[in-house]
Amino acid sequence: MIGRLNHVAIVVPDLQAAAATYRNALGATVSTPEILPDHGVTVVFVELPNTKIELLEPYGEGSPVAKFLEGSPSGGMHHVCYEVDDILAARDKLVAEGARVLGDGEPKNGAHNKPVLFLHPKDFCGTLVELEQA
Ligand code: CO
Repeated sequence: MIGRLNHVAIVVPDLQAAAATYRNALGATVSTPEILPDHGVTVVFVELPNTKIELLEPYGEGSPVAKFLEGSPSGGMHHVCYEVDDILAARDKLVAEGARVLGDGEPKNGAHNKPVLFLHPKDFCGTLVELEQA
């Protein structure tokens, strides 16, 4: 069911510094920052030949990634994002398999303006999983 690895997301305490590290030390192409108020994050994407790295910084009050930084102040891996052809069919199959979908279970528009869902880390080997409509 799952397709390509769309991105790996890393939460960082300082997005500008993290973008500079990827741009300068690692020589990567890094997008301009984009605020996603619905997700409580500011994001940049690092373009790699075979996938992307999403660098996330908390945005606004009650950002879901602010708590993550309390436990990992220098940042860390936050989630992996897999593409699926049909996000509603994927959700229904996963729920039938006993997986938990976070939030109200309805897809929200993600950073690429495509529908995304998040799956509970306890159901997926301790890793938060994002599904994105391909
Ligand atoms: Co993501």
